[in-house]
Amino acid sequence: MVGTQSGPASIFGVIDFCVEPAHRGRGIATDVLERLSSLGRESGIEFLMLFAHDARLYERSGFSRRENPLRWCKINEHETLGIGEEPLE
Ligand SMILES: CC(C)(COP(=O)(O)OP(=O)(O)OC[C@H]1O[C@@H](n2cnc3c(N)ncnc32)[C@H](O)[C@@H]1OP(=O)(O)O)[C@@H](O)C(=O)NCCC(=O)NCCS
Repeated sequence: MVGTQSGPASIFGVIDFCVEPAHRGRGIATDVLERLSSLGRESGIEFLMLFAHDARLYERSGFSRRENPLRWCKINEHETLGIGEEPLE
């Protein structure tokens, strides 16, 4: 779950999305992203959300950029560091 300005929402999470260098540029990530999107919709989540520094792959697949004030629990190496808060582009 994530909190949004409209209230709590269920999301579908994937982390560390990557394709082995020797197999990049053949549409593998695009295909996996489509399958994950379908799986998310079948699972009844409210929206698909992703974080990326480089948006090229995702904008090609129909994702669009949003700005949102973000608040999260900061954890590093199993240590809880408190609540982080900053606007996210
Ligand atoms: C990003 C990544 C998963 C793409 O995998 P892929 O199977 O080669 O992707 P596809 O063949 O489906 O699509 C290729 C397109 O991805 C985009 N792309 C390339 N590198 C990218 C990157 N680091 N981040 C986002 N998009 C990227 C480009 O638009 C590319 O199209 P182009 O070659 O015509 O410019 C792969 O390059 C990778 O594993 N990179 C290192 C890990 C990484 O940056 N993961 C993203 C974490 S948010």
